[in-house]
Amino acid sequence: MDIRNFRQCLGYFATGVTIITSETASSTHGFTVNSFTSISLNPMLVLVSVDRKTKAMDVLQGNNFIVNILRDDQQDTAMHFAGHTMEKQPFEWEKGGLGKRIKNSLAYIECKPWKTYDGGDHVMFLGEVKHFEHSDGNPLAFYCGKFSEVVVK
Ligand SMILES: Cc1cc2nc3c(=O)[nH]c(=O)nc-3n(C[C@H](O)[C@H](O)[C@H](O)COP(=O)(O)O)c2cc1C
Repeated sequence: MDIRNFRQCLGYFATGVTIITSETASSTHGFTVNSFTSISLNPMLVLVSVDRKTKAMDVLQGNNFIVNILRDDQQDTAMHFAGHTMEKQPFEWEKGGLGKRIKNSLAYIECKPWKTYDGGDHVMFLGEVKHFEHSDGNPLAFYCGKFSEVVVK
């Protein structure tokens, strides 16, 4: 089985797009994630699957994190945090309960670390939800390797 082809196949599963933000000793780290999944309601648990090669891999170990769920007009922010750093920062920070977060996101889920699990070349980080907020608007979507929008039927 071919890995590139497998990746292409997975792309047919449409997702939303999030930025995971987390405080380091000197700054706030953010990275773009579409592997975000809800896991449990009681206790409230969510999951992100993190590539072992990322800087986020070290930052998230034992650390609080915030899931910033993006709106349809935040594509530049998604690119900025996926290694395509823009000269002019395309977003503003705001203060959340467990660290800095991205202003005007569609929803926020603030987590304390729960457990990690081996996921091959990724590590699954489960977070225990300590605070959440949401507002009205349209989500940014990701489908077949491209940013997309959700059509409500
Ligand atoms: C739409 C999209 C979704 C992504 N989802 C993930 C993901 O779920 N897990 C992951 O580890 N990287 C994901 N990435 C790649 C990271 O955002 C990228 O490797 C980032 O530069 C890592 O930053 P860091 O090394 O500073 O932590 C995604 C990228 C894009 C554009």
